[in-house]
Amino acid sequence: ELISKGNHRHYMLKEIYEQPVVVAQTLRSYLRRMEDQVSLPVPDFDLGTIRRVTIVACGTSYYAGMVAKYWFEQLARVPADVDVASEFRYRAPVMEDGGLMIVISQSGETADTLAALRHARSEGQKIAAVVNVPTSTMAREADLLLPTHAGPEIGVASTKAFTCQLAVLAAFAANLARAKGRLDAKAEKELVRHLAEAPAALNAALAYDESIEAMAHLIAVARDVLYLGRGPDYPLALEGALKLKEISYIHAEGYAAGEMKHGPIALIDDKVPVIVLAPSGPLFEKTVSNMQEVQARGGKVVLISDYDGVQAAGEGCIATITMPKVHPLIAPMVYAVPVQLLAYHVAVAKGTDVDQPRNLAKSVTVE
Ligand code: G6P
Repeated sequence: ELISKGNHRHYMLKEIYEQPVVVAQTLRSYLRRMEDQVSLPVPDFDLGTIRRVTIVACGTSYYAGMVAKYWFEQLARVPADVDVASEFRYRAPVMEDGGLMIVISQSGETADTLAALRHARSEGQKIAAVVNVPTSTMAREADLLLPTHAGPEIGVASTKAFTCQLAVLAAFAANLARAKGRLDAKAEKELVRHLAEAPAALNAALAYDESIEAMAHLIAVARDVLYLGRGPDYPLALEGALKLKEISYIHAEGYAAGEMKHGPIALIDDKVPVIVLAPSGPLFEKTVSNMQEVQARGGKVVLISDYDGVQAAGEGCIATITMPKVHPLIAPMVYAVPVQLLAYHVAVAKGTDVDQPRNLAKSVTVE
């Protein structure tokens, strides 16, 4: 085998551990650290004319797109839609002049995403592709190629490609913000500094591997698991649930924390663990109050937060996972690590085939 697992038991674990290095590698090609600027390939169209962004992807790449929607809207003030690729064409999307489609794909070959790209092209949209395989079909067909530099990803469940996609999308959102006159030099400098902190923060997050492994048995016995998050951590809740489903075959759902009370709270009892993603920050209090609604109904909560968050709200949880305290921009990258590790260790505890889960393929080339 050309690519080995190194000292790791599975490709997935190796790829989780590669994240600080590959995210640093990816950021190196999108940030000019000396000048404190983002630096992206220059497209053959004027970014300043982009009036709407439509993000399309599948699976884990779709969740990266959901996170990026917040960034395009908050940083660049450009309206952003995000669709699962298999639904995109069938909702007869309105695509006007000044529209940019961003496809996100590890493989660059996923049939649904490629079909969406071609549909958007036929409707006169510009196309940017965030792909991990630079020779892929999507890379070739895009107007603007934004490669992730994650290296080959072998584990069927995507991990390092996801965090690298987030790194590229954050830099691209900043670039678009600058082109739209929404990011002055000072703000850009700040943003570049926060992004550049991601590799070290990912490393710090990996340090909790053993404690996550030690609590995996609490989840491995469950039949159903809920993940809750707010804002950009809501897509992370979805990603956490997807990872768990994919490799441990435990039924899991991700929910926007505030939406709990509109349905899923009916599922809560002491047999349904609830994983709450709540970095301290502006949304913390609200998420914690949703978490307390769960606890009041006998729900068993695992809180993933930083030191301050765990201190403030960790009491009464069956377990807590302490992440480094990071800027909200990089929190989705950092919080990806504990949800990946949790899914991994639960799957290992259950004895499933982590790298080749049943019924799944690494790249899906049928619609
Ligand atoms: C498959 C894989 C997922 C992946 C999805 C999208 O379903 O099992 O891990 O997220 O395809 O793949 P892409 O290559 O387009 O990112």
